[in-house]
Amino acid sequence: MELRRAALDDAKGIARIMKEGYNIDTIADAEGVFTDEMERFHRYVVATMGYDIMGFASWTLRDLPRHELAELRRIAIHKEHRHKGIGAGLFYYLVQDAKRYYHEQGFRLRKMFTTCHASNNVARAFYEKIGFKLEATLKDHYYEGEDECIYSTFF
Ligand SMILES: CC(C)(COP(=O)(O)OP(=O)(O)OC[C@H]1O[C@@H](n2cnc3c(N)ncnc32)[C@H](O)[C@@H]1OP(=O)(O)O)[C@@H](O)C(=O)NCCC(=O)NCCS
Repeated sequence: MELRRAALDDAKGIARIMKEGYNIDTIADAEGVFTDEMERFHRYVVATMGYDIMGFASWTLRDLPRHELAELRRIAIHKEHRHKGIGAGLFYYLVQDAKRYYHEQGFRLRKMFTTCHASNNVARAFYEKIGFKLEATLKDHYYEGEDECIYSTFF
């Protein structure tokens, strides 16, 4: 397995996994999300086996570099490859990428946060395992009846 930064021509491979992991209607819609986010400085990383993408994760800067605050935006692993350590490996790789970016800007990565549907118990167990703590819960956030958990970790 190889971990690397994603490029625009990874759109199809990422979109296939994003569609199922994020409940997006079509692969074309997921490709649109990926390309739009790449244009808005969301940095994607991928785990690959040969030419196949097995999972991806992305982060973005929150506000200004001096806030030293990054958001883990997305993470999803292909259904057949879950719970084999790929998500954790991708996350640690993504943190190195974010740390390098802040360092190049003359800052350091201080805090990373992410949000997660309260009902997504697998993702919540995952975030807790990789060191995030539940910091707040937002009521009926994206949908009525679905609270959103804010998880964060400090470096
Ligand atoms: C959440 C997700 C990215 C985790 O990736 P993964 O590669 O399967 O996770 P890992 O194998 O690295 O697991 C790390 C830890 O997470 C937890 N975990 C992972 N899968 C789990 C499961 N099915 N049930 C309970 N805990 C689980 C465990 O604590 C695990 O540690 P362990 O192996 O010692 O038990 C993956 O399940 C996924 O793609 N889910 C769908 C998309 C999604 O919900 N993304 C997050 C949106 S907020």
